[in-house]
Amino acid sequence: MSDLIEAARQARENAHAPYSHYKVGAAIRTPAGRIWGGCNVENTSYPMSMCAERNAVAAMVLGGENQIDEIAVATRDGGTPCGGCLQVLLEFSHDPAETVVRLIAEDGAAAEYKLIELIPHGFRST
Ligand code: THU
Repeated sequence: MSDLIEAARQARENAHAPYSHYKVGAAIRTPAGRIWGGCNVENTSYPMSMCAERNAVAAMVLGGENQIDEIAVATRDGGTPCGGCLQVLLEFSHDPAETVVRLIAEDGAAAEYKLIELIPHGFRST
């Protein structure tokens, strides 16, 4: 768990957030035990900005994996992933009642949720 939190904090260091000044780092652990990181990358054309969680998912998929066991998200205040990112995380969760989401603040405060708690009625196509 602490290695995942450290990876999220490390990813946050590289965030490109000159517009919002809100740096976010995310780290995903897969069932294979690998860790994939991502940070937010903003753009002067604001809507083109990318969230940290979705960039971590992109790294995981590029690396040939597609299951999230656990994700840690590091911010200044322990903020919750946005709705769009939660929907993307859901795509790669084998069981949202088991997938763990850890929110880590700069001061070390941590909160732990199951993905299902944060997105109980996400879209699932049949
Ligand atoms: N952000 C994330 O990286 N993840 C989220 O789940 C919410 C918001 C980023 C987007 C933007 O770069 C900054 O945080 C402020 O919204």
